[in-house]
Amino acid sequence: MDLLVVGATGTLGRQVARQALDRGYQVRCLVRNLRKAAFLKEWGAELVKGDICDAKTLPPALEGIDAVIDAATARATDSLGIKQVDWEGKVQLIQAVKAAGIERYIFFSILNAEKHTDVPLMDIKYCTELFLAEAGLNYTVLQLCGFMQGLIGQYAIPILDNQTVWVTGESTPIAYMNTQDIAKFAVRALEVPETEKRTFPVVGSRPWKADEIINLCERLSGKNAKISRLPLSLLRLMRRVTRFFQLSQNASERLAFAEVLASGEPLDAPMEEVYQVFGLDPKETTTLETYMEEYFNRILKKLKEIDYEKNKTKKKKKTPFKSVSQ
Ligand SMILES: NC(=O)c1ccc[n+]([C@@H]2O[C@H](COP(=O)([O-])OP(=O)(O)OC[C@H]3O[C@@H](n4cnc5c(N)ncnc54)[C@H](OP(=O)(O)O)[C@@H]3O)[C@@H](O)[C@H]2O)c1
Repeated sequence: MDLLVVGATGTLGRQVARQALDRGYQVRCLVRNLRKAAFLKEWGAELVKGDICDAKTLPPALEGIDAVIDAATARATDSLGIKQVDWEGKVQLIQAVKAAGIERYIFFSILNAEKHTDVPLMDIKYCTELFLAEAGLNYTVLQLCGFMQGLIGQYAIPILDNQTVWVTGESTPIAYMNTQDIAKFAVRALEVPETEKRTFPVVGSRPWKADEIINLCERLSGKNAKISRLPLSLLRLMRRVTRFFQLSQNASERLAFAEVLASGEPLDAPMEEVYQVFGLDPKETTTLETYMEEYFNRILKKLKEIDYEKNKTKKKKKTPFKSVSQ
């Protein structure tokens, strides 16, 4: 099967490309910057330059393709916002897929999007789910809630670096998942006809509160976290202020999303049936403890090596002085 991965330079998209290549798919990636995507070529994927917001770049990228896995989303740093990329771009992509006669389309949404249509990103995700169903494709929607990869920058690094860890609102428990495990579900969907025209939650083994993650990081790093709590009311005020200035529209949309994550309502879903349908084993899914343990073991080993090298260089510098003084 020839597969097009969109958003393959991203956190999840690269794992999808990796997993698909490992399972023997011919993988083509639609990328905006060929240089940034060079690693995907090294892995064995074909690269096609394109942009979902530039309709003319889509038909050549879709030529000869049997299925699309779409992991693209607006970057916080981009000039284009959620509306242009996650809505207008996706509509163009879905229309181009349909016009190319491709039937299979895997889309990543957000868990509970339909409950928070006042939040732009959630509303767009929900509308895209509906649009996909109406387009008549053999879609599969995977509703995600949070990536373990994001926890490194949010908690692990600040704790290691004695920096402040920011905790917002009520500390919503979130069932984080490793993107490598999410990628398994996405690629597996292509092989399981029972997943067609259906929507599934794809979330981690249990929900975690911010304080639990901080405790885990403290234990694994041997350091105490400096915690600052940002009240929900302040988050709301920041959103109103940023929304007022057109330039910070992107920031305002992201703060609205952060507000949902800080509301205290757990982001979790039952997964037993999902594992059964996809024919995957829950025991093979990474737990947050294992993920963090592996991260801290790797980073602490690296820090020890750097320390050792530094001490060695210091000793070498000291030796001539010692021999002169002797
Ligand atoms: N992160 C989370 O915790 C989370 C939670 C729930 C759902 N999701 C969903 O999971 C999916 C993957 O998210 P992620 O965090 O892995 O994304 P990410 O790391 O931010 O990567 C975004 C990807 O989209 C690409 N992209 C952006 N604009 C594009 C455009 N106009 N045309 C083509 N490609 C474009 C980026 O390419 P460049 O490298 O060129 O910028 C990059 O490859 C998204 O659908 C997201 O909504 C994420």
